[in-house]
Amino acid sequence: MLLMCTATFAQISPLPKALTFDAHAGKRESMQLYDGTTINYTAYEQLYYVTNIEDAAYQYLNVYVPDGATRQSPIFLRTYVGGYMASAASQPKADDATGRALKEGFVVVIPGTRGRNAKVETADGKQIYTGRAPQAILDLKAAVRYLRHFDKVMPGDAERIVTDGTSAGGAMSALLGATGNNPEYAAYLQQMGAADERDDVFASVCYCPIIDLEHADMAYEWLFHQTESRQHLDPTHAAYSKELASQFPDYLNSLQLHLADGTRLIADNYLDYIKSELIRSAQIAKNAGADIPDSLGFRFSTSAMGRFAPPVNGGMQPGRATGAPQPPAGGMRPMGGRGPQGEYIVDLDMQKYLNYVVATQPLKGVPAFDSQIDGINRPSGENDEFGDSSGSTVNFTDYTAQKNGTAVSDEVRQHVRLMNPMSFIGDGLTAVAPHWYIRHGARDRDTAFPVPVNFATKLQNAGKDVDFLLAWNRPHSGDYALDELFAWLKTILNE
Ligand code: DHB
Repeated sequence: MLLMCTATFAQISPLPKALTFDAHAGKRESMQLYDGTTINYTAYEQLYYVTNIEDAAYQYLNVYVPDGATRQSPIFLRTYVGGYMASAASQPKADDATGRALKEGFVVVIPGTRGRNAKVETADGKQIYTGRAPQAILDLKAAVRYLRHFDKVMPGDAERIVTDGTSAGGAMSALLGATGNNPEYAAYLQQMGAADERDDVFASVCYCPIIDLEHADMAYEWLFHQTESRQHLDPTHAAYSKELASQFPDYLNSLQLHLADGTRLIADNYLDYIKSELIRSAQIAKNAGADIPDSLGFRFSTSAMGRFAPPVNGGMQPGRATGAPQPPAGGMRPMGGRGPQGEYIVDLDMQKYLNYVVATQPLKGVPAFDSQIDGINRPSGENDEFGDSSGSTVNFTDYTAQKNGTAVSDEVRQHVRLMNPMSFIGDGLTAVAPHWYIRHGARDRDTAFPVPVNFATKLQNAGKDVDFLLAWNRPHSGDYALDELFAWLKTILNE
């Protein structure tokens, strides 16, 4: 995988032979934010973070230092990876978390990364894919090492790096947080010419992370196979859906997760737990004035008595920034509450709610991720991601490989492992970030609720500080509720 394509370098010379950072080479720039404020900052761009550069279009980072920032300022590292595609280092944006981070005094770092579509051409005209798994996370880890390498001469504190990303980028942010210093990445990073430094981070912000790919198909069918939209499958796909759904309980039980009060989270109480998380989310939104329609399956009461009892009191850590659902003082209804509906959400008809979710956006096919089955299904982006430098698409789950009469190779299995933030939590060899902010939209169907729920719970079970929410009425999206995110960041950074 880590082949060197020196032939391509001639076009883009000269490339640095050693890692460099020149504190005097910054350019003065400014930007107007969504709220009208002007941010003045110094930009340091195209800083290559490896010495054995394989793809000069992507393997560098940009750094933006707002006026007033010092070497003690926290660093906000935003990855713009989407769809596991290549992502060139870009500028901060006025209307997302990078603009806001500059305003809040963070040094903003935006690394480029190779992705599944990245190609270079060799001298003899051969196309080589440079960014298949696990290259994107290797690039990001090299970027973190670069920041540590120059920590003493660069603005920003490399011991306080906060990572942020959405979807496949949420997966990258999750990987940065959950694989710090893990030895299984070390040889790759050394070959790339990454700095010989630690690559653990302080906190990870993950919006709708597309993770646990080898179990995402079973989670998807387990959650959705009874919905209206799965009732019209042809017999072949209906059988796949049923088989995959039936594999999820054993996987879930194998994780040995437990809730904050010690209750084991097992297949028998799992749907009730998801229900309690959706009720918690809707109640927070309702308390803030949102209209929660009964038609989605919610049941309301004027009293909190008799409310649906989740397997744990109040769900996962209520979240310092979001707060647990609070009854309004004196029993008054907040503005926007509906008259006869009742203040408290006491139950949710999950069948109704899931039918609503799948009505907002059609489900993926079956299987949702490892979809490639000869003569039946086309490859997915994930089949592409686990392909090799020739541009192949491959299966990465035992289930789908068997449908094709093949098996997952050891190499692909290892790539899948390196791309899954569930792989190393609690292994004693990995410096997992102490702080986590994980959001997955309450109507996001790009991956099923169990995927982020298991991840958040596993981190919490490992003693990490986790603020998790199935964010009310959010589709597959990220960098939202920035007031809430930056309030949370303030609490963890001031501790
Ligand atoms: C993304 C979305 C998906 O549904 C997926 O399977 C992989 C990546 C994305 O938006 O990055």
